[in-house]
Amino acid sequence: MTAVLFTCAGQRVDIVSAFGRAGATTVGADADRLAPALYHADHMALVPRIDDDGYVPALADLVREHDVRLVVPLTDLDQALLARSTRELAPALVLVPAPEVCATMGDKYRAHAFFVEHGLDSPRSWLPADVPDDARYPLLVKVREGFGSRHIHRARDPEELAFFLRYTPVDSFVQECCLGEEFSIDVFCDLDSRCLNAIPRTMIQSKGGESIKGRSIQDRELIEHGARVAETVGIVGPANVQCFREPDGSLPVTDVNPRFGGAFPLPLAAGSRYPELALALARGERPEPRIGEFREGIVMTRFFSDLCLVDDGTDLRPFAEELPHPLAAEPGEV
Ligand SMILES: Nc1ncnc2c1ncn2[C@@H]1O[C@H](COP(=O)(O)OP(=O)(O)O)[C@@H](O)[C@H]1O
Ligand SMILES: [Mg+2]
Repeated sequence: MTAVLFTCAGQRVDIVSAFGRAGATTVGADADRLAPALYHADHMALVPRIDDDGYVPALADLVREHDVRLVVPLTDLDQALLARSTRELAPALVLVPAPEVCATMGDKYRAHAFFVEHGLDSPRSWLPADVPDDARYPLLVKVREGFGSRHIHRARDPEELAFFLRYTPVDSFVQECCLGEEFSIDVFCDLDSRCLNAIPRTMIQSKGGESIKGRSIQDRELIEHGARVAETVGIVGPANVQCFREPDGSLPVTDVNPRFGGAFPLPLAAGSRYPELALALARGERPEPRIGEFREGIVMTRFFSDLCLVDDGTDLRPFAEELPHPLAAEPGEV
């Protein structure tokens, strides 16, 4: 069994459980003892906060204690730090791209400059002082280092643009609004950034930047686009590529998150086998690309779930109600 350490496990019960089903021994780490995913892992660990000097040493202790072979960060928060800490976490493989890739994709204005420089479409974007007179409104005032659709404002004219630039409390840039349909592509790359699969989905509904309803689609152009973006960026492991399909046929990229996407269960159900691929990389294997091998028409619709714990003063234990047995007779049973 390969032991896998999940950092910032948070609410990602879906990912931790999927790795368990794929045969991994799962270790969940979080600073908050109420992080639900901790209780769905085989082993749970409370660790210091990311900005604490003891954070990486605590993870390194867990790697030794559980003979961890793979470290998977589940949020944007510690990606760059873990990318810089691969030596401390050896011999476990840390499933993140190089630190420069995390830094570039973590700043949407730098990411835009990278896309343009590498021949990938990206909506026209400027620093606040450089917005030209011919910029097409509406324009978006977007935070440079943000997530969860926070700090994004739509300005309909130059007056509103000036207002939002004054109003926003965070370092921002200005981007043209895309006009077409938005898509999200869940990709997975090997250690040489060779793309192994790319699974596009529609964004039927999103809330707070999280896709809550979507559908997998066999769209050759989007599959190839996702793979090309991932390989050009230098992704290692999972990433989520977001783009629009514009009326002129271009596919401008707006966001690349080098981690499992919020909609992880959708590509999983469509046959991604991303947990198995991650475990294969941890064992030093070199799985062959299976680009486009997934099922179209998988529709995901998400809902809130919960976990009840018993607090006995020192520990929290999952609450398990003694169920009367049998619950009820099945039809046809006595
Ligand atoms: N240039 C754009 N044109 C139209 N919509 C956009 C654009 N940029 C972002 N959005 C919308 O805002 C959402 C969040 O923006 P994104 O750049 O993905 O930041 P975050 O890191 O918060 O996910 C997107 O999913 C999309 O719906
Ligand atoms: Mg996004």
